[in-house]
Amino acid sequence: MKLADNKATLSFSNGSPSVEMPMYHGTIGPDVIDIRKLYGQTGLFTYDPGFLSTAACQSAITYIDGDKGELLYRGYPIEQLATQCDYLDTCYLLLNGELPNTAQRGDFHKMVLKHTMVNEQMQFFLRGFRRDAHPMAVLTGLVGAMSAFYHDSTDINNPQHREIAAIRLISKMPTLVAMAYKYGKGEPYVYPRNDLSYAGNFLRMMFATPCEEYVVNPVLERALDRIFILHADHEQNASTSTVRLCGSSGTNPFAAIAAGVACLWGPAHGGANEACLNMLEEIQASGGISKVAEFMEKVKDKNSGVKLMGFGHRVYKNYDPRATLMQETCNEVLAELGLENDPLFKLAKEVERIALEDDYFVSRKLYPNVDFYSGIVQRAMGIPVNLFTGIFALARTVGWIAQLNEMISDPEYKIGRPRQLFVGATARDVQPLEKR
Ligand code: SDX
Repeated sequence: MKLADNKATLSFSNGSPSVEMPMYHGTIGPDVIDIRKLYGQTGLFTYDPGFLSTAACQSAITYIDGDKGELLYRGYPIEQLATQCDYLDTCYLLLNGELPNTAQRGDFHKMVLKHTMVNEQMQFFLRGFRRDAHPMAVLTGLVGAMSAFYHDSTDINNPQHREIAAIRLISKMPTLVAMAYKYGKGEPYVYPRNDLSYAGNFLRMMFATPCEEYVVNPVLERALDRIFILHADHEQNASTSTVRLCGSSGTNPFAAIAAGVACLWGPAHGGANEACLNMLEEIQASGGISKVAEFMEKVKDKNSGVKLMGFGHRVYKNYDPRATLMQETCNEVLAELGLENDPLFKLAKEVERIALEDDYFVSRKLYPNVDFYSGIVQRAMGIPVNLFTGIFALARTVGWIAQLNEMISDPEYKIGRPRQLFVGATARDVQPLEKR
């Protein structure tokens, strides 16, 4: 970052001396006011619950222009990466800052595809869960448990450990997600195969059984690879900020990523794809398209607490570019599976059409986000609704790692420790029980 040719001056109406603060600008996006010395100089904190106006770090990984609906991974538009690259190329890009050349691509693909097995003991760890446990509960446990199985890559301040942990996490997440799925289904685990692509391997571990050969459908393989690309990283979202804050204590990479998995599970964040599909199914069950208008009235009634899941975004105040690509992927998969008339896809497109004509949504700049169509395409592929967020976590693991590594490598980084505006009781004495 560079010192901006501008300064910020904070003046006070009570006559306190004004304070000057430096401003910096990055390569693109809003400038920042450096408030790090504010408390020392004034004894005051800034107040920004939800971090609506706060840059928690500097980063060179992902840039989002919310007004234009633009998303860049290391400068490359998501539209180009989703159509001209594959997920492992995108992983290499996010981790290293550049797309791989032929030799680097071959080495990286081989490295990842050769570390897809997990320690056999993890099967016994899995057995501790109820079969009907939510896959995200299982995944949070499994990822955290990786720090119990891979001791030789837990020192986050050791670059070699960070690199080994990154490969292990990227390679093994599909295996763990598939194991959680098979465990819940009561089917035997399917071991990974090194001769399949990253997405093809995952499809086979999910849907193959020992009873017959499983042939990977190339259209579904490409669609899933694209879904992984679309979810790979997204600036300082809630789960990425969780990973950064958790990792800032110096804890091991597996524990920090497990914290990200736990945060992503929430319906306001990565859990929205599952909530969105459930919402569409509820509308469908109550009468389908004829009931959309009634549902929208509920959404617009603040007292209902009902939100249009898959819509709205803290940063995008325009169409989420990932939603556009996801809708295209949806069309391809439904056509390949002969489900062009999928009633839920038709319903989703009608919900989107109605919302985008309704002033409630237009005035609040609420557009479909990445989660609006992702559930429909995953459901068509046979992925159960309660596993959608697990797929999101699988894909986002590389983004979390890249952001964690960037933080640890930043000489300016310190343990994250926000302050507060205290509104509780001032000091008082404990009264004896009989007097309370
Ligand atoms: C992801 O941050 C990221 O980058 C996340 C993500 C990533 O890749 O990491 O992009 C992935 O999490 C996408 C978002 C998935 N969540 C959902 O689809 C859940 C539904 N969306 C909302 O919960 C909401 O839009 C958020 C949480 C996504 C954003 O919330 P904000 O930024 O805090 O906005 P807000 O709640 O202040 O909303 C502003 C207004 C409010 O109305 P008013 O008080 O102004 O009258 O818009 C309304 C909100 O009530 N609103 C909605 C709505 N989203 C916002 N009303 C109905 N339905 C919605 N979905």
